[in-house]
Amino acid sequence: MLDNLEYISRFDRSGMLDTISKLPEQIEQALEICRDIEVEAGEIENILISGMGGSAISGDIIREWLRDRADIPVHVNRDYNLPKWADEKTFAIFLSYSGNTEETLYSFREALKRNIPSVAISSGGKLEEESREKNIPHIKIPSGYQPRAATPFLLFPSIKVLEKIELISNVDGEISETIDVCRGIRDENRKETPSESNQAKNIALKSKDTLIHIYGWRYFIPIAKRWRTQINENSKMIARYDEVPECNHNDIVGWSRRCELTEKSTCILLRDSHEPVRIKERYNFMKEIFESAGATVVEVNSKGENLLARQLSLMYVGDFVSCYLAILNEEDPTPVDVISKLKQKLASI
Ligand code: PA5
Repeated sequence: MLDNLEYISRFDRSGMLDTISKLPEQIEQALEICRDIEVEAGEIENILISGMGGSAISGDIIREWLRDRADIPVHVNRDYNLPKWADEKTFAIFLSYSGNTEETLYSFREALKRNIPSVAISSGGKLEEESREKNIPHIKIPSGYQPRAATPFLLFPSIKVLEKIELISNVDGEISETIDVCRGIRDENRKETPSESNQAKNIALKSKDTLIHIYGWRYFIPIAKRWRTQINENSKMIARYDEVPECNHNDIVGWSRRCELTEKSTCILLRDSHEPVRIKERYNFMKEIFESAGATVVEVNSKGENLLARQLSLMYVGDFVSCYLAILNEEDPTPVDVISKLKQKLASI
């Protein structure tokens, strides 16, 4: 079924697979958009990235990417308000693809009240309008995407902003390796590549009709979360994710009792060539207990050398898997009617 392009287009009516296939080019376009961005930050003590859902994930990726690199902490805020500690010494980035997400708008307004140096990124909406009114630097990204299919437009301008305020430097080499690695992943996993050599199609076929659990270690915890949210939104399936090594102190106990649910589970382990030996051992142990509980285990290895490339390589495979799962579920990956319905309801209050 997944090798029949006509069958795929019967469900992928809005062309999500074609959109995600353009991710490497979206990165290039995103870099072009923010080439001349002017941002200033005085002496800052922390970074706060605010947003929700498909927009906020870029903040999580950045936080873990900079974990061993930034001298100050990077926090991600997913709420209507800001943490008490956020003040003039904070530098804030507000991410909302639509520019109309209420939690992000409320926290943006609070940042202005607290005189927090800020930058906003959106395709338009109130976030653009209010940034312009208040003279806050705003990066306008292209409209017409689903937020989760616009990750490069939120992630890479944020990275460039952080470079501009001198939190990080020399990122161009890492970004160009990331683009190359993503091109390779795209070629391997695009809809035209047959199942025999298409990793994402294979994972989707194995995990269809199962409860999917995704496990990521340190830098890849946001990637495990992204797999989950892509499976939720694109495939219209419940899924869960957990973090290594924390899950070794709780989750693994649940797997010690084999039952119908464990047998109907797929455990996706996000693996990385730079894993320390103790993390490798933990993954090996987990693999054994998942298998003895009757679950199907799938390991996905990162590609590339630098961390950003490795993070995005794993993210990108998950994006494809979620679309193939949608096709197998006979669902269109694009619409997220439940989210729209709730947003409409709240807007009317
Ligand atoms: O993927 C989605 O559609 C959602 O998770 C949105 O990203 C979320 O609702 C926030 O909207 P926005 O990204 O427009 O701020």
